[in-house]
Amino acid sequence: MKVLIVGSGGREHAIAASAAKSSKVEKMYCAPGNAGIEEFAECVPIGAMEFEKLVAFAKEKSIDLCIVGMDDPLVGGLVDEMEAAGIRTFGPRKNAAILEGSKAFSKDLMKKYHIPTAAYENFTDPDAAIAYLETAKFPIVLKADGLALGKGVLICQNFEEAKEGVCTIMLDKKFGTAGNEMVIEEFMTGREVSVLSFVDGKTIKTMTSAQDHKRAGDGDTGLNTGGMGTFSPSPFYTKEVEEFCSEHIYQATVDAMAAEGREFKGVIFFGLMLTEEGPKVLEYNARFGDPEAQVVLPRMKNDLIEVVEACIDGTLDQVDLQFEDNAAVCVVLASEGYPVSYEKGFPIQGLEEFNKHEGYYCFHAGTKLQDGQIVTNGGRVLGVTAKGKDLKEARANAYAATEWVQFENKYMRHDIGKAIDEV
Ligand code: AMP
Ligand code: GLY
Repeated sequence: MKVLIVGSGGREHAIAASAAKSSKVEKMYCAPGNAGIEEFAECVPIGAMEFEKLVAFAKEKSIDLCIVGMDDPLVGGLVDEMEAAGIRTFGPRKNAAILEGSKAFSKDLMKKYHIPTAAYENFTDPDAAIAYLETAKFPIVLKADGLALGKGVLICQNFEEAKEGVCTIMLDKKFGTAGNEMVIEEFMTGREVSVLSFVDGKTIKTMTSAQDHKRAGDGDTGLNTGGMGTFSPSPFYTKEVEEFCSEHIYQATVDAMAAEGREFKGVIFFGLMLTEEGPKVLEYNARFGDPEAQVVLPRMKNDLIEVVEACIDGTLDQVDLQFEDNAAVCVVLASEGYPVSYEKGFPIQGLEEFNKHEGYYCFHAGTKLQDGQIVTNGGRVLGVTAKGKDLKEARANAYAATEWVQFENKYMRHDIGKAIDEV
């Protein structure tokens, strides 16, 4: 079959690498893709938000299956447009992608269906938000309602900071229209775990767990980023935690969406916090995580295309989802200065090394081909991933592999997976 992947990051590279292993795939395209994805798919210069062009391309090439990797086109309704044109597409429709697209919606859903999450209030009026904050407990968390590249969350230590935060989100519109509405939420403490799952509208099958490192600097310092590295599985995601989440969170979310007339098909990403009171939902995403996908998909034993088709067809109950009994660690190589400002266009050396070693992957995030040379083209440049028999071995392997690659302003965290040592 002919497959079109929509997106251009490390996640889409991981999806393409996984899909390429399927005997069902004869030809793959990626829009817009990047220099690494070229290895598996023909990249076409159409942006992920250029719906008309994407649909026209899919029709012209008789695409049999479209996989939408990114949040923006999902929330914007690309799946609906593709389906209207008769293209089989993997991902939630617009009315279901709202699970990620509106934090106010997802909080209300959790409240209505008794899914454990932090206490909160939604606000559309900045004065009302500030009045509420006057009697609130600190620290407190402010969240822009809409998509903000994972950056629309502010943790405020006192009233002054929070008041400023309300202005940043709702008046200055730092995150654009994402800040038309805002969630103010109780601050929780605990370990974070990411659990991705496949969903076919009724059935949900969770993948192996992972943990992201969102802050830019070592020791969880600095600004929030899209993610600086991941490990999988999370040793903190115990059998008990899994059982609790299965009983109170996973199926409950799928059923809640169905009950609301918003049948969810695709990937639900549960951002969980393991609090003293038990696991609670921090956030939902309506897609694979990035860089979570880079440690989860390489460990998946199933044929990705088969699982994706089962989600579309509503036959996921017949799939036996299996993961390797090992571990993987991904260290993101970024451009110095990310997530604020950084230079790009530097040549990248050493990429060929990854073809010589089994169990090592270099997923491209921000790269492009320029005059026959792969150069940096973004804040997050590469996701260097390695497997190992356990987390410690995977981490040592991944950090060793980060040395294979060189570019001028290469930056990475040195403590990805450090939490493993506490187990
Ligand atoms: P989100 O985009 O909602 O996952 O938020 C980004 C990050 O902010 C999370 O990964 C947490 O580290 C942090 N965060 C979000 N909500 C809370 C909360 N209620 N309490 C503490 N930290 C939070
Ligand atoms: N790594 C977090 C995300 O994909 O949202």
